Amino acid sequence: MSDQRRIVDASVRLASGSEMPILGLGTWQARGSGARGAVLRALEVGYRHIDTATAYGNEAHVGQAMAESGVPREEIFVTTKLPPSRAGRERATLRDSLDALGLGYVDLWLIHWPPAGRARPDVWEQLLELQAEGLAREVGVSNYSIRQLDELEQATGRLPAVNQIEWSPALFERSVLEGHRRRGVQLEGYSPLRTMNLRDPQLVRIAEAHGVTPAQVVLRWHIEHAIVAIPKSTNSERIAENAAIGFELTSSEIERLDRFAETRSR
Ligand code: A2P
Repeated sequence: MSDQRRIVDASVRLASGSEMPILGLGTWQARGSGARGAVLRALEVGYRHIDTATAYGNEAHVGQAMAESGVPREEIFVTTKLPPSRAGRERATLRDSLDALGLGYVDLWLIHWPPAGRARPDVWEQLLELQAEGLAREVGVSNYSIRQLDELEQATGRLPAVNQIEWSPALFERSVLEGHRRRGVQLEGYSPLRTMNLRDPQLVRIAEAHGVTPAQVVLRWHIEHAIVAIPKSTNSERIAENAAIGFELTSSEIERLDRFAETRSR
């Protein structure tokens, strides 16, 4: 296996000092045996980070695959999410997630969406409390704006470890990336592939230059920016492909991809 096909096993360091694998398997819209098979395959090829959510309805299958895989629990970084509709029932919801996953703790627990579009520091307080009890190693949010992150900090003195937002070259905004960096909040991107035209000629040219696929270029671009990526796939080959991104993009390729949103409309 050539080095550029190497499975990426790098991590980012969160504000607490703990590590989070930079590449994970997304499981949105993976249900039942599809979710179980995808997680088993991912763990087999070397993923050590799985992203799920109460709302995905697949936690039991994700947990089953983790148990079957034989990979020790402590080697796997597991994220799940609190649906905004369960605000006020945080403890019971996390308990349900842990039961379904068959775990004693999750590595990361996120507020899936700002409830009714609001930051809700009271909900964030509950996440912090359950973290203090050891049920979630890290806590964070998803789909929050920078302004909402600040609102949580102003109310509680604590920033989320992670904000998971939709992200790809097509959605790149330097000010958003830098806003997270300045605050020490790790940016985690979801839908890295769905939001891209993988047949875009510019992207295809970069992929050809490295002998890789456009999807691999998009995912490598996240790694170059130290952004956590969680591509979803239930296809055995694509699960392996998405992690085999040990090649490096040049700085000019990274810049071209950063400008993807501007240039592709011309
Ligand atoms: P599939 O599950 O059949 O592989 P995202 O994570 O950006 O939301 O993207 C998920 C979508 O992209 C799914 O439809 C998934 O389909 C597809 N996908 C995943 N990996 C690849 C890949 N390497 N090339 C093309 N499409 C992919």
